[in-house]
Amino acid sequence: MSLPREERLKVLGLWPGWRPRSTRSLARGVEPEPREAETIIGCAEGATPAGDIANLDWPALEQAIRACTRCELHRGRTQGVVGVGDIHADWLIIGEAPGADEDRMGEPFVGQAGKLLDAMLAAIGLKRGENVYIANVLKSRPPRNRDPKPEEVAACLPYLERQIDLIRPRLIVAMGRFAAQSLLLTDTAIGRLRGQVHEYRGVPLLITYHPAYLLRNPADKAKAWEDLLLARATMGRLQSAAPAAP
Ligand code: URA
Repeated sequence: MSLPREERLKVLGLWPGWRPRSTRSLARGVEPEPREAETIIGCAEGATPAGDIANLDWPALEQAIRACTRCELHRGRTQGVVGVGDIHADWLIIGEAPGADEDRMGEPFVGQAGKLLDAMLAAIGLKRGENVYIANVLKSRPPRNRDPKPEEVAACLPYLERQIDLIRPRLIVAMGRFAAQSLLLTDTAIGRLRGQVHEYRGVPLLITYHPAYLLRNPADKAKAWEDLLLARATMGRLQSAAPAAP
């Protein structure tokens, strides 16, 4: 079970202004004042606050992501990359962050890793754009494809959370260590996270290897295939438990 967002950010030490209630404030009966999320490092003045993101409709959310200035990554990217596909999809695929190709094209997974992702989807009868939505944890490209920083994840997660709340997918598949660990707030190795059904924002969540990792480590494709079979079986169960309205 994943923790609520506020709790996860507190664990990460990123909930703005949060600290354990001190004995002094307890004695005065005063709660520490939560500061606004805009205190995140690199957040530009006027950036959309997390509380506002949680209320955006889809067109406004897309616009906010494209123009986002909530962390320092906005300075080096070409555009915020929203995601691609069916916004009423049963399947939500979540990757790490846009790379150079995605930054240029404005669409997730369009490079070599994207080709492999499309092949993985095809292997279980899925096609980009048809009952599948593809998004990333980070909407802006980290420079030189470096690992995302915790404050960048904290700044960006409200967008993904809103996407999930609006799409209401039946199943989420997180691709790779970074997406899995960011959603589950854990440093457990991906090898131990895959093979079981987790949950994120009330939606069943499965973990598999990132296509870019599989391109470098083709021997693990067999394990990714097992994960895809588990995903297909899990979706079958979810669909039979609650068939779509006619
Ligand atoms: N890797 C990702 O995780 N996401 C992309 O969009 C592209 C490559």
